[in-house]
Amino acid sequence: MKIIFPVAGVGTRFLPATKEVPKEILPVIDKPLIQYAVEEAVASGLADFIFITAPGKEALERHFVPNRELDAFLERHSKTQLLDGLQDFYRKNFSYIRQEQALGFGHAIALAEKAVGDEAFAISLPDDLILSEQPAMAQLIAVYEKYRSPVIAFMKVPPEDAPRYGIAAGPFLEERVFRIEQLVEKPALADAPSNYAVIGRYIMTPDIFPLLKSGKQGAGAEIQLTDAVVELMKQRQVLGYFFEGRRFDAGTTLGYIETLVHVALQREDTRDFTRRLLRGLALDEKL
Ligand code: UTP
Repeated sequence: MKIIFPVAGVGTRFLPATKEVPKEILPVIDKPLIQYAVEEAVASGLADFIFITAPGKEALERHFVPNRELDAFLERHSKTQLLDGLQDFYRKNFSYIRQEQALGFGHAIALAEKAVGDEAFAISLPDDLILSEQPAMAQLIAVYEKYRSPVIAFMKVPPEDAPRYGIAAGPFLEERVFRIEQLVEKPALADAPSNYAVIGRYIMTPDIFPLLKSGKQGAGAEIQLTDAVVELMKQRQVLGYFFEGRRFDAGTTLGYIETLVHVALQREDTRDFTRRLLRGLALDEKL
């Protein structure tokens, strides 16, 4: 199965940082956001990565390709662990497709039609960083393999947050799996059919492409995947899956802070320091 990373967005919420630096290579401690998503995909057994990038995002395109000078430097200084960490990716299969204009997430996916071919494919949005025992994408692939239907990742959100997400409702087929009967992108609070929110992991089938190309502009005057999925639901069953794990929204400034703190608390080399720091801050009455 191939996996698409649509990373051509403008990243307005992180300006001015994202003026020259693509949002997806902003680090969570010392690792770019995109690398977390690629590592999750690798851990899910995927090895064919398609990036939908944009002009000005060359640094992102270069992140997974060899840098001879840096590699030679690390070799000379016997930094083998760091070098291995980089070289792991050199052997994987990355391809890049340019989205010349940011016409929307759905438009970005449509550009991958030829590259994807006749098989089901995965989509991952690196803004959603998911920490879980079993990689989130592997969980979705397992559901796809059982039902052979497109699958979208979901989590429950506080009802007042529904207007920020794609929101769905429908009957459960088993624990964690439901058939999507209603799906709306960023509904008004009063119109949200539930608090089940779409998270950036999908397994889609190629029959989504003609529906994406019909080109209707949805929320925010962009071509949205959600609108095409609503059309697809008229043709076949589309499933929602409540993944096991915790998702962090690294695409907003507050979410980014939360992501940093949680990753720091998870990593062995940063855990103790971060715990002490947070405890100290919690006790500081001047704050
Ligand atoms: P977002 O809605 O998060 O947009 O896109 P964004 O540009 O990344 O961030 P803000 O809202 O301006 O701060 C969801 C995903 O779809 C990609 C983005 O890169 C992100 O991964 N995308 C969006 C594209 O690839 N092309 C587009 O035209 C729009």
